[in-house]
Amino acid sequence: MRIFSFAALAAIMTANAFTPVPAGARTSSALKASQLEQLSKLTTLSIDSGDLKVIEKYASTGFITDATTNPLFVSQAGSSGDPVYQKLVDDAVAFALASDETDEDSIVALAIDALAVNLGASIASIVKGYISTEVNPKLAFDTDASISRGRRIIKMYADKGIPKERVLIKLPATWESILAAEVLEKEGIQCNLTLIFSFVQAVACAQRGSHLISPFPGRVLDWYKAKDGRTEPTQPEDDEGVVLCRKIYNYYKKFGHDTICMPASWRPSRGPGFETDEIIALAGSDRMTIPAPLLEKLEASEEEVAQALDVDSAKASDEEEVGGGMMDEKEFRYLLNMDGCGTDKLAEGLRAFIGETDKLEEIIIAKVRENKA
Ligand SMILES: *[C@@H]1O[C@H](CO)[C@@H](O)[C@H](O)[C@H]1NC(C)=O
Repeated sequence: MRIFSFAALAAIMTANAFTPVPAGARTSSALKASQLEQLSKLTTLSIDSGDLKVIEKYASTGFITDATTNPLFVSQAGSSGDPVYQKLVDDAVAFALASDETDEDSIVALAIDALAVNLGASIASIVKGYISTEVNPKLAFDTDASISRGRRIIKMYADKGIPKERVLIKLPATWESILAAEVLEKEGIQCNLTLIFSFVQAVACAQRGSHLISPFPGRVLDWYKAKDGRTEPTQPEDDEGVVLCRKIYNYYKKFGHDTICMPASWRPSRGPGFETDEIIALAGSDRMTIPAPLLEKLEASEEEVAQALDVDSAKASDEEEVGGGMMDEKEFRYLLNMDGCGTDKLAEGLRAFIGETDKLEEIIIAKVRENKA
């Protein structure tokens, strides 16, 4: 029996485990270094998996310093329909019903946040690093509501003994959410701005002080291929997703932004058989999130990994400062509108997140009514 939509929960939150690199873990038995080893010297790598055994395996190589996981993976790793998860849902609903909230919508909204926090807290107890928890994507165009939800999530974590330093509030990179992040960051609440498919979104996030952004190079390539009806292989350096991430890197370094750029979705630029093209083409990026099957490919290859991104070249790049260093709303909206990929993929990504949230809400509403009856 499916208790609730795990995908919806996955859309709400991710967690990040920071596993320390064991001393002397880097074995030099092989004459030639794997691509994974070479890449790890250029970029801080996170594994994208919920399987703790897999995470441990890669952490023990010493080449992976972080692990990103989320409840979707966690639920797949364990048995789905696990009573543990059912208990988290029941606890969240009971918590919301016992609160001061009176109307059903507010009770349901609180229960959903409480569920995300319950799950985050249980993951936090098994991993060491950040836990990203998403503000309800339906609030993507409401700055004030996003701010109060962000604060509320942080408070719920604090009540469970989890300090704000361990939590990232995940927000979709709309104008309204970027402003919400600006306010939250000033309060010491760190944000992970996601659904980044255009340069203008990345620039606005940095100018407004977001802690971290996650662009999706693979999905950017999808958009350009679909638009042009392109079927022939793309050279990695011309891959639009790679071009976007390189441009963000250059801009951030050139204009002194500390915002961490952590690309997350990957496609083979040249087609099947070239699954790690985009990753290799972005070697040197501050951080990356990579799923286990691609880490395996990197581990199996000894081809040379050349540093593709570096600070000196970034500083010498011809990037020009956008919006005099602080873009306003009009300029953001204009530039985003002129970027077809950013506009389409942000809207599409939001619709998907909201669709997952709807499914989760239905389940929670039923539970709330059942408990009230
Ligand atoms: C930030 O969000 C993205 C997109 O959901 C996710 O892949 C990434 O792991 C998150 N980053 C951290 C550090 O939690």
